[in-house]
Amino acid sequence: MAKNRASWSKRDVISILDFSREELELLFEETDKFVTQEKAPNTLSEKIVATAFFEPSTRTRLSFSVAALRLGAKVIDLSPDVSSLLKGESFADTISMLEGYADLIVLRHPSEGAALFAAELCEKPVINGGDGSQHHPTQAMLDLYTVSRTLGQIDGLVYAVVGDLKYSRTASSLLYALTKFKPKMVHLVSPEALALRKEVYQRLKEVSLPMEVHSSIEEVISQVDVIYLTRIQKERFADPDEYKRLKGSYVITKSLLEKSHAIVLHPLPRLEELPYEVDRTPNAAYIKQAHWGVPLRMALLNLILGDSQ
Ligand code: NCD
Repeated sequence: MAKNRASWSKRDVISILDFSREELELLFEETDKFVTQEKAPNTLSEKIVATAFFEPSTRTRLSFSVAALRLGAKVIDLSPDVSSLLKGESFADTISMLEGYADLIVLRHPSEGAALFAAELCEKPVINGGDGSQHHPTQAMLDLYTVSRTLGQIDGLVYAVVGDLKYSRTASSLLYALTKFKPKMVHLVSPEALALRKEVYQRLKEVSLPMEVHSSIEEVISQVDVIYLTRIQKERFADPDEYKRLKGSYVITKSLLEKSHAIVLHPLPRLEELPYEVDRTPNAAYIKQAHWGVPLRMALLNLILGDSQ
């Protein structure tokens, strides 16, 4: 166990692919402790965490901040729209300043590879809070934690990952995460124009993830244990008319769920794909999923910055 903890110490979190099943299981065990514990330990009282979000965020930024504060750390926030980036300061110089001021940086950026670039520049741990359409590793950790805590297992389940599989970094990160486990089947459900990008599909194929492609959830809903729904990523579309055409092309309604025992997860924010009426069904698991973002990120920060002994 001590060895496992040591592998987390001072570590960058760039892609979920960098983590083993055992490391994720340790994170989930640690998260359980923070879910049930009333009083958080003051393990990070000497630490400063920096958040630097170059794209909008509610859950990721705030849950990292709350997690750090609950463990006694202090939090500084770089607001790109009032920082010297507006005076033309480079991304590299900005990261090098944060490296001098904080013990860990949580970064979100529209460019794919931005977090990896920052991690290469910076000695301090960098956590990727989302880079373009590529990775969102801590969301994938939270998604699988929610499955495990709600259904008692990750292996042997049937998953449907639904929506904008092309641009959603949370969908591809979750799929990458599932390659570390043994799902019974993964249904990839999207309009054709939003199908998984080739390089992601290829990667899943290489590790023989059991998967099938569908254009509608109705085809599989009765067999599915976990529905993972994503928003159409409007901000990633080159053509606004294409977005308008696809908007509303898949919606999980309450009546659709009457035929299903599946839990519904969503990284949020939601748009028309997840109507509010679903909140009152027994299937809805996305609010507690978002709330568990705090204990999961407490466990993560504690493993990375806490005493590894
Ligand atoms: C997601 C993201 O930023 O990728 N949000 C989140 O972090 N929970 C999902 C999205 O924006 O659709």
